[in-house]
Amino acid sequence: MINAKIIGLGGYVPEKVYDNAYMESIVDTSDEWIVRRTGVKERHISADNEYTTDMATIAGRKAIENAGLTPEDIDLIILATVTPDYFTPSCACVVQRNLGAVNAAAFDYNAACSGFVAGLIIAKQFIQTGTYKNILIVCADVLSKATDYEDRATCVLFGDAAGAAVVSASEETGIMTTDMGADGTGAMSITSLAYRNDEEEIEKRVAHRKDTVWMAGQAVMKFAVKAMADASQKVIDKAGLTWDDIALVIPHQANYRIVDSAIKRMGITEDKVFLTLEKYGNTSASCIPVAFNEAVEAGRIKKGDKVVLVGFGGGLTWGAALLEW
Ligand code: ACO
Repeated sequence: MINAKIIGLGGYVPEKVYDNAYMESIVDTSDEWIVRRTGVKERHISADNEYTTDMATIAGRKAIENAGLTPEDIDLIILATVTPDYFTPSCACVVQRNLGAVNAAAFDYNAACSGFVAGLIIAKQFIQTGTYKNILIVCADVLSKATDYEDRATCVLFGDAAGAAVVSASEETGIMTTDMGADGTGAMSITSLAYRNDEEEIEKRVAHRKDTVWMAGQAVMKFAVKAMADASQKVIDKAGLTWDDIALVIPHQANYRIVDSAIKRMGITEDKVFLTLEKYGNTSASCIPVAFNEAVEAGRIKKGDKVVLVGFGGGLTWGAALLEW
């Protein structure tokens, strides 16, 4: 069996920062509330003329460089986003053009914040069947452009970023085990509207705007803790390993309390977890690859280390992957 291995990572966050003092100036909130209830201190915000494909191109280019490849080596680009530039063309096709990845097929997919793990699972299938050798996964979102800055329950959480990885056919161990699932009964727990004229959804929003994200925070929190702990345990069990074998866990970075409760359920301590939440907030599917890239750059992951990536998000969806770096 051919192995699928991550051979390069890349991340990008925009320059502009909204810190908690700024959030205090626009909604009825406080630094103390935000830090205690979420753990977020700052979020990076895209410029007015900066969109998902702009950020995705930068992160994708870095991942290809770090993999020691050229854009022409890429056979497939898959891109996870819930804030596309257009419904069509796909962001993946725009990124393919921007990078000059002339040999790559390209498509977008939507698994919300579970997008990076879903992408690893898609890539693994194409590589193990021998269909493709080098796949670029890009996760990018401009959540700030879909955020209602009058809604204090969501606006303090979100930021913008892009993260990317090149997954390639390898003789070395790479992605070992995976788990992915969905619970559509929770579909309306996190919503962002498109064509459907859903009056009930519009009514829920503070400013009754059709173009902003809404969520049932408490319900998502409850779902997320169990989903992340269960999925992580499954990938470790499937590999016949225990938590002692795992060097680092990189979870979706939505809320420190979710991470804290999930790791207690996993029975591990925080020194095994890598967080960027404080600096970037929840940047959707890019949270995991951006954090992964920073963990590698910071020397927190060494060759041969076993790492668990675990996410949850809109849908509701979840996914985990155990890999050897
Ligand atoms: N500042 C001050 N008070 C606030 C703020 C704020 N920014 N936001 C909410 N509150 C208030 C509420 O109005 C409420 O006031 P009330 O008691 O007078 O009604 C009180 O705080 C408690 O509200 P809760 O919603 O119960 O607060 P909770 O502890 O659940 O925290 C939060 C809210 C942070 C949203 C939390 O539920 C959460 O993080 N949920 C999960 C979010 C998540 O992971 N989403 C994934 C999204 S994925 C995607 O779409 C990209």
